[in-house]
Amino acid sequence: MASPFRPEVLKGKVALITGGGSGIGFEIATQFGLHGAAVAIMGRRKHIVEAAQAALQAQGIQAIGLEGDVRRREDAARVLEAAVKHFGRLDILVNGAAGNFLASPEELSPNGFRTVLDIDAVGTYTMSHEALKYLKAGAGGRAPSDGGLILNISATLHYTAAWYQINVSAAKAAVDSITRGLALEWGTDYNIRVNGIAPGPIAGTPGMRKLAPEEMRRRVREDMPFFRLGEKWDIAMAAIYLASDAGKYVNGATFVVDGGHWLSQPRMIPKEEVKQMSRVVEKKSRKEPTGVPKSKL
Ligand SMILES: NC(=O)c1ccc[n+]([C@@H]2O[C@H](COP(=O)([O-])OP(=O)(O)OC[C@H]3O[C@@H](n4cnc5c(N)ncnc54)[C@H](OP(=O)(O)O)[C@@H]3O)[C@@H](O)[C@H]2O)c1
Repeated sequence: MASPFRPEVLKGKVALITGGGSGIGFEIATQFGLHGAAVAIMGRRKHIVEAAQAALQAQGIQAIGLEGDVRRREDAARVLEAAVKHFGRLDILVNGAAGNFLASPEELSPNGFRTVLDIDAVGTYTMSHEALKYLKAGAGGRAPSDGGLILNISATLHYTAAWYQINVSAAKAAVDSITRGLALEWGTDYNIRVNGIAPGPIAGTPGMRKLAPEEMRRRVREDMPFFRLGEKWDIAMAAIYLASDAGKYVNGATFVVDGGHWLSQPRMIPKEEVKQMSRVVEKKSRKEPTGVPKSKL
């Protein structure tokens, strides 16, 4: 689908996207690039970031791939420095890197639990912490009131509870909390906006392939209000909105982009039955005297 945004809406901006070598992160990098931004992508696997860099450049996007682990503070500092050295500034940090695997709590060791928290939550904090000096108002050639944006990719699992994903749920709950905390403190002190996007199940992503076998994906589709999974494009468009001036007053929000999935409930009674019941109730209430004169109703 063609983008509803102008192609130059992010012109002049530089974004660093962790987890930008694949899935949703790669789509955000692509769409940011196609809308005028220069993009740096970060991931642990060299061949993935190199392939992603080549694929972005082949579309005419200014892109570099940088190897690094968000869990390591020195990697965070090195990658951010390299991106700023290459492009001259940093405007947007997208924290998309995440770990995930299915495990029941009795099988999940504390180390397995900690690993996902380390990548998603501590990684988000570490990258944001190291990026502050580039994103704050007045830094790196910015105007005194011009701060950058941090965009944290979260999820909706923790709004209720999710089977076999206690680690991811806990990690994303922490990510949402970081979004709000930094939005308050760094919005006030440095003019940096901090927002999140919480995707629902998104088709064609490593996350869905890993966590939901086809049978489960079919069931998810049947339960969803629109009877379909989201697309990576849906998440990237929300990211462009937040990264552009259209989102300039949005701070501390986590946008749910899930087609209403987390609200989904099975229909308890067929609709015809409900209509029938409400007709009966309506008729009955019309017959009952209310004690209020008709002229006042
Ligand atoms: N897919 C969905 O339906 C869905 C739903 C809700 C939320 N989300 C969220 O959306 C984001 C992207 O998900 P996705 O499904 O598209 O999965 P994905 O492509 O597997 O995303 C993970 C990315 O993060 C990188 N990464 C992992 N650990 C890292 C580390 N320690 N340091 C640096 N990079 C690291 C991975 O590259 P390396 O392994 O090379 O490091 C990979 O590129 C995640 O935050 C996920 O939680 C996805």
